[in-house]
Amino acid sequence: MRRRPTQGSLSATGHTLLAVVVDDEAWDRDAEAPNRQMTATWDRATNELHLHNGRISYLARVLEDGSLGHLYFGPALMPGRSYWHLGHRPFEGFSNRVGEPIAREYPTGGGGDFRVPALVAEPADGSTVLHLAYAGHRILPGKPALQGLPATYVEADEEAETVEILLRDAPSGIEVALLYTVFAAAPVVARSARIRNGGTQPVRVRCAMSASLDLPDAAWDLVQLSGTWARERHVVTRPLAPGRQSIASLRGASSHEHNPFIVLARSRTTEDAGEAYGFSLVYSGNFLAEVEVDAFDSARVRLGISPESFSWTLDPGAELSVPEVVLAYSGAGLGALSDAYHWLYRQRLARGAWRDRVRPVLINNWEATYFDFGEARLLEIAASAREMGIEAFVLDDGWFGERDHDTSSLGDWFVDRRKLPDGLDGLARKVEALGMRFGLWIEPEMVSRRSRLFEEHPDWAIGVPGRPRTESRNQLVLDLSRREIVDHLFAVLRDVLGSAPISYVKWDMNRSITEPYSPALAADRQGEFFHRYILGVYDLYERLVTAFPDILFESCAGGGGRFDPGILAYAPQGWTSDDTDAVERLRIQWGTSLVYPLSSMGAHVAAVPNHQVGRVVPLHTRAAVAFFGVLGYELDPTALSPDERRAVADQVAFYKEHRELFQRGRFVRLRSPFEGDGNEVAWMTVADDRRRAVVGWYRILNDPEPRLDRIRLRGLDPADLYRVTPWPTAGDITESRNALVRGGDDLMSAGIIIASNRRETATRGDFQARLFVLEAVDAG
Ligand code: GLA
Repeated sequence: MRRRPTQGSLSATGHTLLAVVVDDEAWDRDAEAPNRQMTATWDRATNELHLHNGRISYLARVLEDGSLGHLYFGPALMPGRSYWHLGHRPFEGFSNRVGEPIAREYPTGGGGDFRVPALVAEPADGSTVLHLAYAGHRILPGKPALQGLPATYVEADEEAETVEILLRDAPSGIEVALLYTVFAAAPVVARSARIRNGGTQPVRVRCAMSASLDLPDAAWDLVQLSGTWARERHVVTRPLAPGRQSIASLRGASSHEHNPFIVLARSRTTEDAGEAYGFSLVYSGNFLAEVEVDAFDSARVRLGISPESFSWTLDPGAELSVPEVVLAYSGAGLGALSDAYHWLYRQRLARGAWRDRVRPVLINNWEATYFDFGEARLLEIAASAREMGIEAFVLDDGWFGERDHDTSSLGDWFVDRRKLPDGLDGLARKVEALGMRFGLWIEPEMVSRRSRLFEEHPDWAIGVPGRPRTESRNQLVLDLSRREIVDHLFAVLRDVLGSAPISYVKWDMNRSITEPYSPALAADRQGEFFHRYILGVYDLYERLVTAFPDILFESCAGGGGRFDPGILAYAPQGWTSDDTDAVERLRIQWGTSLVYPLSSMGAHVAAVPNHQVGRVVPLHTRAAVAFFGVLGYELDPTALSPDERRAVADQVAFYKEHRELFQRGRFVRLRSPFEGDGNEVAWMTVADDRRRAVVGWYRILNDPEPRLDRIRLRGLDPADLYRVTPWPTAGDITESRNALVRGGDDLMSAGIIIASNRRETATRGDFQARLFVLEAVDAG
């Protein structure tokens, strides 16, 4: 029986706030769109929800006690059948045993479920025991926006369906609206929640997760992306064990240390086979991602705002929206999981004019000059870069106030005429006259003690009155939880960005938040500070991207300290890491690619010895790593030798030729730097039509008698013939066996051959890289 949601009809329980659902016409829409397999159905007879898109199913139902139970999330199950049996059956040995692993959609504590809750809310009586009972639901075409929060979206209603389920705790009046969106095009379900105080007394919310998911077994590895400054997002894998295991940030930003993303994968799962669940939180502030394994080997996963640094008071009638979490399932390995996130985040999270445009190759002056520059020096760098084909010049830190060092001037967003006598406008026009775009670095959220802003508004910096403030990089953080400070920053930055032809902005955030406290919040609302701060950041971003729709925003936080899906909704690319060393970047870019698309990863070629690790990696290898992302250069081009200049010009030309592939192709990870000795790494990017691909292969340390290596490619058309051309062709000693036309089946089953020639100095030594371009040729 097919049914169609009908706006305005009432649910079985007749709840009046949410108009509900489900009548018999409904599934006729499928008949109108026969290719569309996506459906959200609510069976009134069994009170079962089934989200389905041909690849995945997500099932929930109303349990006998009125709560919303979880049934299943995984490979698609046949629609139209009942899966009631997957739900909770009471333990039969005793009539009322507590502690049973009842799977619920939004668990609360204190009622016999002793695992970690999704919601802890304290009504006026101070209790935290809630019984959230189903009170209605509605099915909406498309996907509604989340008020004030970044989120995935649709461009047409046909792309997704959203179910909103209302739960209510009758004694307190606390209501929870759970939102589930199933997308037609990807094996993902986006979840979020709204908590509303429907009672008459204030309610204090102490924990409000974005999602909780109960899995029926715990035989999973937990995969997380962890590290620190300059080595962000390394892949760390550990088997689940009884008890709680988590990653979190309490730094005010999602952090260098842990990304708000985890995977549960079977121990045998590889890049192209096996099961994996992904959990990605669309949020840039303090988060928690946790898995609890109980005595019965069920696994509960919860993600959301970190409850440790959070509480929120809801007055009667008030509502709190929590961030979105994107759940993904793959039965075909980590690669397919990444494909789903890459598509969604590139196409339906990133927004604005630059979402679909190829991004310019840029030169950034930071590592070339640091704070020591004048207009002539910058123009020299820009002109020299332009000659090599580079398309944009980005002026980094040091252009404002009296910023000769990191001890001053943050907050004083007016140009330093000592360095730039013709102002930003003068410089930007001269850069444009060279045929380049002009970009600018800002760090809006910060203030230096030595600044006019701090002199005028010492109370705008975050801190607890009467206590010392911890400085980091000699700077303090502005209290963006306060509206007037966000207004001030918007006004100032609107002036700056409007004062010159600026087409690119690098928005930095160079320290964690300490002494969290806002004098603007009442004592019993200080727990709201961190979340209000990040809402202020989102508000400022939203206003600026709206005011300057043609500017390409790049996010940065001391490199990759806030590289998360929340920021990606405003800035379609981010500075992946301050570490520009190619060997380090292999690991960083590999880890980042588990969830984030190539179009989001800024990747620069920097000078050697590398400024972060002192390593000397050949120029070719530095480029061969940076190609897989949004390419830039971060060095002094005037210091390059004529040979190096020719090489860079060739690199830029090569990148431009294949830019669509490098920025928007399907990224396929072939050999991991995190497995085995990690000495050989390989990856590739493939065009959607599979007619072009570029393969990158890297050997970190050389061997006296290097092994003959073969890499099995993936994602090609097995029936196609591909011309395999090493790049650069001249000087590459890869033997002619590869410079052939070979079948996709051959390349995927036998593999591409990486030969070494010990006599060729060009490819001897450490830190080697090979690139191969594959182009389909028409047979015959
Ligand atoms: C941070 C960024 C760098 C650079 C400096 C400038 O560290 O990550 O790329 O912009 O700030 O101070």
